[in-house]
Amino acid sequence: MCAKIRNLIVVFCVLVVATAFQQQYFRVVPRSLRVQEGAEAVLECAVANLAGQVQWAKDGFALGFSSVIPGYPRYTMFGDRRHGVYNLRIVNSSLEDDAEYQCQVGPAQMHKVIRANASLTVICTLLISSFLIH
Ligand SMILES: *[C@@H]1O[C@H](CO)[C@@H](O)[C@H](O)[C@H]1NC(C)=O
Ligand SMILES: *[C@@H]1O[C@H](CO)[C@@H](O)[C@H](O)[C@H]1NC(C)=O
Repeated sequence: MCAKIRNLIVVFCVLVVATAFQQQYFRVVPRSLRVQEGAEAVLECAVANLAGQVQWAKDGFALGFSSVIPGYPRYTMFGDRRHGVYNLRIVNSSLEDDAEYQCQVGPAQMHKVIRANASLTVICTLLISSFLIH
């Protein structure tokens, strides 16, 4: 009898924990952008119930977890980490920044990995001026 009640309590507790638990999810997903060469580009990414580590990837290449990105002096990951904001800023955009970016949130305990893509299109200034002339 006692064991039955104990089992019931265990089941009840598991249910309470399961319903209270909420997966990490994107509060703000990055949107694809078009910027002119030389301009600043900001790709936004914000996560609610953040549990894992956040990083950006460029064409599948992971840029790391720190705000300063080694080898990419024009890139910074900035925002309010306590509120899950991890935006990627690219200053002085150049054609080599034209790529598919991905905001990645790693797994943690019961949280699954989540990923969101956005493409950055850098418009060549020369092209624009030649369009304007003709
Ligand atoms: C997201 O981007 C990666 C490369 O960075 C690519 O492999 C993947 O297919 C893309 N996913 C979607 C849904 O576009
Ligand atoms: C922006 O990048 C170009 C080369 O891509 C460089 O010539 C120029 O000096 C840079 N401007 C700034 C403000 O960093």
